[in-house]
Amino acid sequence: MKSENKDEILVGTEKFVPMLSQETIQKRIEELGKEISEEYKTKLPIFIGILNGSFMFMSDLMKNININCEIDFFKLSSYGDEKISSGRVKLVKDLNADITDRHLIIVEDIVDSGLSIKYVSEMILAHNPASVKVVTLLLKPESLKYEVKIDYIGFQIPNKFVIGYGLDYAQKYRNLSSIYVLSE
Ligand code: IMP
Ligand code: MG
Repeated sequence: MKSENKDEILVGTEKFVPMLSQETIQKRIEELGKEISEEYKTKLPIFIGILNGSFMFMSDLMKNININCEIDFFKLSSYGDEKISSGRVKLVKDLNADITDRHLIIVEDIVDSGLSIKYVSEMILAHNPASVKVVTLLLKPESLKYEVKIDYIGFQIPNKFVIGYGLDYAQKYRNLSSIYVLSE
């Protein structure tokens, strides 16, 4: 159940509390949109969203991009429904676009260990794009395990589990319009 008017969300005995409000998220996305639009104004970039998590961020980011662009999606599945990543990723849906010689911007909801971004970047680079940059709404710097370059970051957050705004807990809570953090 969506219960956004409450200050907290209970999942069994676990309690999630507000971390980033809808207003805070939208304001930051406006800034990111401006910055990216300015940087790519002479190019025709393809924004590549990583499903499922990035669908909400991708949608709001695109509304703040004021230059011509294209979009496409990868769908990854990381095994399991738990709070801790399995450390394995699988490609569930490939791109449709021909990305050779194109300027690409990968759009992620959150970079945790960095494995997903590393996996996607390697697949993309094999097709010889003109350039690749990464934008993520959230980054947990303390949990990075792989060397990845993130070009645009919405918010750096502590190494804690978050839900909402595309991010799930066992596939639920993606529909919340703000972000909640597990309180310990
Ligand atoms: P990474 O591959 O370890 O960087 O993890 C990235 C993916 O794990 C994200 O795209 C999310 O789907 C998921 N993930 C990582 N941290 C969280 C979290 O705090 N809440 C929900 N999903 C998360
Ligand atoms: Mg994701």
